[in-house]
Amino acid sequence: MKLFDVYPRYETELVRGEDVHVWDASGRRYLDCYGGHAVISIGHAHPRFIRRINEQLSRLPFYSNAFPNALQEEYAQALGAISGYPEHQLFLCNSGAEANENALKLASFHTGRQTVLAFTGAFHGRTSGAIAVTDNASIRAPFNTGHDVVFVPLNDSDALEKAFARHAFAAAIIEGMQGVAGIREVDAQFLALLRDRCSAQGAVLILDEVQSGFGRTGHFFAHQRAGITADIVTIAKGMGNGYPVAGVLITPSIKASHGLLGTTFGGGQLACAAALAVVEVLAEQPLQENVAEIGSWLTSRLAAIEGVREVRGSGLMIGFDAAVPAKDLRALLLYEHAVLTGGGGGAATVRLLPPLTLTKEHATELSIAVAAALQQLHAQGESV
Ligand SMILES: Cc1ncc(COP(=O)(O)O)c(C=O)c1O
Repeated sequence: MKLFDVYPRYETELVRGEDVHVWDASGRRYLDCYGGHAVISIGHAHPRFIRRINEQLSRLPFYSNAFPNALQEEYAQALGAISGYPEHQLFLCNSGAEANENALKLASFHTGRQTVLAFTGAFHGRTSGAIAVTDNASIRAPFNTGHDVVFVPLNDSDALEKAFARHAFAAAIIEGMQGVAGIREVDAQFLALLRDRCSAQGAVLILDEVQSGFGRTGHFFAHQRAGITADIVTIAKGMGNGYPVAGVLITPSIKASHGLLGTTFGGGQLACAAALAVVEVLAEQPLQENVAEIGSWLTSRLAAIEGVREVRGSGLMIGFDAAVPAKDLRALLLYEHAVLTGGGGGAATVRLLPPLTLTKEHATELSIAVAAALQQLHAQGESV
C-alpha cells in the first residue's frame, strides 16, 4: 500500500526531540521554531509528560465514555483553574476541527438558528462544518460548503454592525489570533464589539483558541487580552503537547443532555494523562511570562533585520514577511542553518510557533540564522 500523497514534505525525517530541539536520523540537531504546527507547548519529551503517559500506559490506556473517568474530572478542574474559565463545562474530543464542529452544532442547537458569522482569513479546520467557516480558497475550493455562513472583513467594525443588522446569527466564530492567515491580530475593540453584539442578539460567541491557546500569545487564551469571555472556547494543539486531544469549553447556560454530543476516543485515559501533564507544567512554571518576554524581544530583533518587511503577532505566535519567497527562506533555514519554521499566509510569510520554553539564547540563534539566510538569498538575487 502507498501513502495518500497529500503533504508536500521536506526531505529530513525527524526521529527524536528534547525541549526546543529535534534530531534527524543522522544525529543532526535542529532548533524547532515550528513546534510541529504550534503543537509542542511545554517542550519535546518533557519529563512530566513522559512520566504521566508511561504510568497511564501500563495501567489503562483507554476505555470508552460509557464509564466514569476520574482523569477527565481532574483535568476539567485543573483546566478551569488555570484558564480563567472555572464555570464552563468541558467536552473532550480529538482534533481542532472536531472541537469546532461540536461548537457549531451546540450553537445551532442552543439558538435554533443556522446562520454563522465568520471572518476573512479564518481557518477553523477541514471537516465540512469547519471548512465552511474557513476563508481560504485553496482549502475550501474542491469541497461542498453548503453551510449558511456570512464572512465579514476582520477588524472592520462597520461591516460587523451591518452584518448583525441584517442577520440573526446562531454563532460568531473567530480565532483568538489568526494563525493560518499568516498571524493576524484581532483588534481588542473589535473583539469587545463582537462580544457585545453577540450578547445583544443572543448569538453564541465561539473563540477558536486551537492554535493561539495554552499561553502561546502570553495570555492563557489570546482573546483574554481584550477582557472578554466567550460562550464557547475550542482547544487542541498545545493542549496535548503532541498527544492528539482537543476540547470544547461550554458556557453553563448551554445545558447538556445525554447523547447531545459524543465520540469514541475523546477524553480517553492516555489523552487525559497527556493533557494533565501540560496544565500541571503550565501551573508550576512561569511559561506565559517567558513567552511574553522572549516574544517581544524576538519580535523587535526580527523587525531590525534587513529583508524582514513586517513582523506580526504576540508572544511566541509570530509571523513575518520576508523580501524573498518564504519557501526558499524556510528551506535554507532548515537545510543550512538547522532551524525549523512554519509557512502560511502569503508567499512571503514565515510563521514561528516554537515550544513555550524558548530562551533568549535560542531566540538569538534564530534571529542570527534568519539574518544570514536572508543575506544569502539576497546575494543570489532573490526577491518576491
Ligand atoms: C485556528 C485553528 N482552528 C482549527 C484548526 C484545525 O485543527 P485540526 O487540524 O486539529 O483539526 C487549526 C489547525 O491548524 C487551527 O489553526
